[in-house]
Amino acid sequence: MDCLADWPEPIVRVQSLSDSGDTIVPSRYIKPPADRPCFESLPCEVNIPVVDLGDPDAASTVSKACRDWGFFQAVNHGVCRELMNSAREVWREFFHLPMETKQAYSNSPKTYEGYGSRLGIEKGAILDWGDYYYLHFSPPCLKSQAKWPALPVFLRETVEEYGKQLTKMSERVMELLSLGLGLDRGRLQRGFGGEEVGVCMRVNYYPTCPQPDLTLGLSSHSDPGGITVLLPDDKVKGLQIRHGGGWVTVQPLSDSFIVNVGDQIQVLSNAIYRSVEHRVVVNSATERLSMAFFYNPRSDLLLGPMPELVSQDRPAMYQPMTFDQYRLYIRKQGPRGKSHVESLKAI
Ligand code: OGA
Ligand code: NI
Repeated sequence: MDCLADWPEPIVRVQSLSDSGDTIVPSRYIKPPADRPCFESLPCEVNIPVVDLGDPDAASTVSKACRDWGFFQAVNHGVCRELMNSAREVWREFFHLPMETKQAYSNSPKTYEGYGSRLGIEKGAILDWGDYYYLHFSPPCLKSQAKWPALPVFLRETVEEYGKQLTKMSERVMELLSLGLGLDRGRLQRGFGGEEVGVCMRVNYYPTCPQPDLTLGLSSHSDPGGITVLLPDDKVKGLQIRHGGGWVTVQPLSDSFIVNVGDQIQVLSNAIYRSVEHRVVVNSATERLSMAFFYNPRSDLLLGPMPELVSQDRPAMYQPMTFDQYRLYIRKQGPRGKSHVESLKAI
């Protein structure tokens, strides 16, 4: 694992490129034409399904959304609105601190924990137009508040409470996903290793970009883990989801979260639920901030399709693998559509 010891090239903060006022995007960030965003005539009427998490029927709406779209917007989710706003606020303040203050938290590819500007360690890779901060909530042995920013002053306590409330919401979504498979409500949680789940967060900061039609804030990928609960920017759109052969731009409802299932849920559900590719487009007018909360299985557990979902008619679609092994691909190669989960196919 030595190759993960450091980045292959010196790290450049995208925020510094943006702040330089240069009107040209450096070639390292220019995507091949097929991957560039297209801004014309995106059908705005289509939007991902909305689920009221308090609805008695929530399991069936969640289940349908995760089969058809891999994504839904959650309302009535139990997370306090003031907390959603203060979490956005402390992170915006953090990214606006002087560069020297942020550099003290620079991360390495070994754990990704801290302030970062790239995913993957492939030398010469085309990079994404975004910086981020990555941190752990669980398991307790990985959680270290000392690695969370000390400034702004309320950040640590806000993030702590945010982690608690989002964990609760994720547990609820796990129950709904289990019920939606016709299993008992605790089944997926047990499949994840019970109490020993991995919980972490990546706060994404997408500075303004002089040539947004040439690059992406985050390249197309499916999330490698369990479930992702995204708090989108309250003013700026940017998340696009692959659906029906094209890209759909999500129109976030206010005070809602965007929930999606990751590759491990696709594996455990034997492909009944699908992790879906998504990406982020940037713009020249306004920066964008989003918080991606990841609720993952215990990382040293061999995970394969749950036996209840395997039959002669529907054989196991994936070979078992631990999340630690799986994540290593992504940590080395960075975002690559759905190629990682595809490579797990049991022929
Ligand atoms: C992610 C992600 C989307 C966004 O962090 O995995 O897909 O809108 N983020 O920032
Ligand atoms: Ni994602």
